[in-house]
Amino acid sequence: MDQKEIIKVLNDNLVRELEATMIYSRNSFIMEECDASRVTEAISVDEMRHMWWLADLITKRGGKPTMEHQELDFGGDDLEGMLKRQIELESEGIETYTRQIREIPDEEVVGVLKHILDEEKRHRKEFRERLEKYVR
Ligand SMILES: [Fe+2]
Ligand SMILES: [Fe+2]
Repeated sequence: MDQKEIIKVLNDNLVRELEATMIYSRNSFIMEECDASRVTEAISVDEMRHMWWLADLITKRGGKPTMEHQELDFGGDDLEGMLKRQIELESEGIETYTRQIREIPDEEVVGVLKHILDEEKRHRKEFRERLEKYVR
């Protein structure tokens, strides 16, 4: 994997983090359950930080951050749908970062991805707990 490919992978990650930031922000406004809303809002801020860390790695390697996101899937307007969608996004992130940590031959990038991966695992746990607590 050369520098150009690493930048491409980092940009794909950045777009996913951007999408998560927007989806969680929007959902936190829609959720009526106060605790679930607050957790979702706080995690949207984490996702934005992930975006910054990735943008920093990209520009340091001579790349430019991409913001071209896909159409957003919020998971609907009910708490169950939104939380399930959020858990799905975290699971996708966990799977992707776990794979990349094995494959990317760049120590600095791997260090940042490990840090992000730990946070995504915590996020999924937080969302799963809210699903258990409020949706059953
Ligand atoms: Fe993230
Ligand atoms: Fe996350």
